[in-house]
Amino acid sequence: MKTLVAQRAQVKVCDNHVEMATEASKEVIRITNGAISSRGKCAIALSGGTTPQLLYDKLGSKAFSGQVNWGAVHFFVSDERCVPLNDKDSNFGNAQREFLSKIGVPAENLHPVKNPDKAPAKAALAYEKEIKEFFQLTDGEFPKFDLILLGMGPDGHCASLFPNTKALEEKQRICVENLVEKLQVTRITFSIPTINHARNVMFMVQGPEKSKVLKEVLVGDTVLYPVQHIMPEAGNLQWLLDKKAASDFLKSGAGSR
Ligand code: 6PG
Repeated sequence: MKTLVAQRAQVKVCDNHVEMATEASKEVIRITNGAISSRGKCAIALSGGTTPQLLYDKLGSKAFSGQVNWGAVHFFVSDERCVPLNDKDSNFGNAQREFLSKIGVPAENLHPVKNPDKAPAKAALAYEKEIKEFFQLTDGEFPKFDLILLGMGPDGHCASLFPNTKALEEKQRICVENLVEKLQVTRITFSIPTINHARNVMFMVQGPEKSKVLKEVLVGDTVLYPVQHIMPEAGNLQWLLDKKAASDFLKSGAGSR
């Protein structure tokens, strides 16, 4: 694995998806245990998509799951599809099936978006209320998640912050419903300020189809993609990449050791 710095972020280039998932598992455990020892609990927002699957498998495995007191960890999602929890496309449902159901985390520590399939706008408001209560926020305050996991699509979206969608402009709300016209769906997503208030943001990106955009994101100085708005105000930002996703970035010679 190679570690570089670009755009004030730590960039780890792994040989393959397995190494990336192992490194990500170690980071999740490090951050989680650090939060528990500092504040007695940890709040993690999980990502959807396919890239984190191997991470969830590893965290749920005997090799890793015993390294954390999961009873002190609360799980949310950084975005959700408007489908029932038992739907194969549900981000929280998938994390529950692949990971959360295997680590004995108490039910009260699980924070899925409730009924996103029924009324997205209401579900987003209810999720926002649940987050405000968990973090005991006053009006206008944003939550400080200990870790927000994100993926990146080939179009440079993260969470459900897709190019040319309304949620990109959201500066007040913690999470909102977001119509994604190109997919003909509505999603629920964290807003940019919510992500930027996190203590740690970790992207996991794999595959050659993301390499061109990723190079622009890590090297370019023109904001072309939603992910370029992710710059934690005081938190730590890291990118875990596999070699295929990092190839254009590495060829650019950018990134300092
Ligand atoms: C989702 C995710 C989404 C995902 C990216 C990357 O709900 O699908 O939150 O933002 O992280 O689309 O997806 P892959 O990891 O499958 O490439």
